[in-house]
Amino acid sequence: MDKLVIEGGRRLIGEVEVSGSKNSALPIMAATLLAAGTHRLGNVPELKDIETFSALLTSLGCTVERSGDGFVIVNSTRIDEPVAGYELVKTMRASILVLGPLVARCGRARVSLPGGCAIGARPVNLHLKGLELMGADVRIEHGYIDVRAKRLKGAHIYLDYPTVTGTENIMLAATLAEGETLIENAALEPEVVELARALKKMGAGIEGEGTDKIKIKGVEGLNPLEYTVMPDRIEAGTLMVGAAMTRGNVLIKNCPYEYMDAVVTKLKEAGTEIKSEDGGIRVVGTYPIRSVDIKTYPYPGFPTDMQAQMMAMMCMSTGLSVITETVFENRFMHVAELKRMGADIMVDGRYAIVKGKERLSGAPVMATDLRASASLVLAGLVADGITEVSRIYHLDRGYERLEEKLKRLGAEIKRVKE
Ligand code: UD1
Repeated sequence: MDKLVIEGGRRLIGEVEVSGSKNSALPIMAATLLAAGTHRLGNVPELKDIETFSALLTSLGCTVERSGDGFVIVNSTRIDEPVAGYELVKTMRASILVLGPLVARCGRARVSLPGGCAIGARPVNLHLKGLELMGADVRIEHGYIDVRAKRLKGAHIYLDYPTVTGTENIMLAATLAEGETLIENAALEPEVVELARALKKMGAGIEGEGTDKIKIKGVEGLNPLEYTVMPDRIEAGTLMVGAAMTRGNVLIKNCPYEYMDAVVTKLKEAGTEIKSEDGGIRVVGTYPIRSVDIKTYPYPGFPTDMQAQMMAMMCMSTGLSVITETVFENRFMHVAELKRMGADIMVDGRYAIVKGKERLSGAPVMATDLRASASLVLAGLVADGITEVSRIYHLDRGYERLEEKLKRLGAEIKRVKE
């Protein structure tokens, strides 16, 4: 297992490029299951989660390879058995995204029921409710979800919560259904909009993406896809916080700025200078960092995937910051680790009260989930002395060579085998 060793105190200075979005690439890879043929996907990041999803597609009978020119080529002509096994699904919940496309194409699917995960129970009941309303027979047996439907039928589906992958799964399934599907209270996330765009390129009839009512007119068949994945707004946000916390000066290239209002607004309130200029977004960190309150919401609210990073920044602010997590019930595991670095944080249920301090002190800490790991790396960049972040396989699931990018910006950071 690798760990990251960081010597704090360096300002981040220079230019950095944002990679392709993990959360956009995954549902688009799932979409390739809907049409037999060869699909070409550009800007797919090289990450553990993408490897896992590729392995999943391969286990279904597809072939997945990276071309020399940076494309991921999926051939989905063959699906041997529409079954996603426990071994792959347990390592990545987003595997559930194959359920909708498999039922739509094969008339049946068997996908291991994802378990809980570090950040909460994360049920998939809304995914399943959508498929049932479309006429599927859904059973849960021996830890697997078994779904059968000769052909799905268009339906009116109201989601109790605007679940991101739930909206995507239902949208994927509905493209090949008979008749029209209406998803109400749909997720508004940019990754959902991107999936709709990709599906439309394949020939799907979709309207209303980016609003809470998405209409999908089922078609008889779809065509292979060629698509370039959007840049990752969470990676971009993480880099912004890094620049801000270290009093850095960084030009962020390929930044999906138009989707980052909530994060940019909070950073500006905290005193960070952010402006658009030729070639990217310039982020200049200033001290003192002003404390701001944060409450996570579905898009366009403040993303839960940026909560931990922003908390790391608030540990260095001049006052009190109240951070409210409304999306996941258990997403404060980074708190105990940040406290090991001297942070002053109190958690009560969904609230964390952060009392800013002048300095954090480097310590050995442990990554517990993807975004929590990023927050510990950020804290390490400003802490006195050495911070060692272990279990960084969490970080590798979702950040493409983060330590190399930070190093090029001047951070003292290295990957070490434990
Ligand atoms: C996606 C993102 C993840 C992000 C999250 C919230 C991907 C691959 N992952 O995860 O990075 O943190 O959105 O922005 O895109 N829920 C239910 N029943 C369901 C589905 C969800 O109760 O059937 C609840 C969850 O427990 C959670 C909330 O809805 O409390 C939001 O979850 P959801 O939007 O589904 O997150 P994911 O799609 O899993």
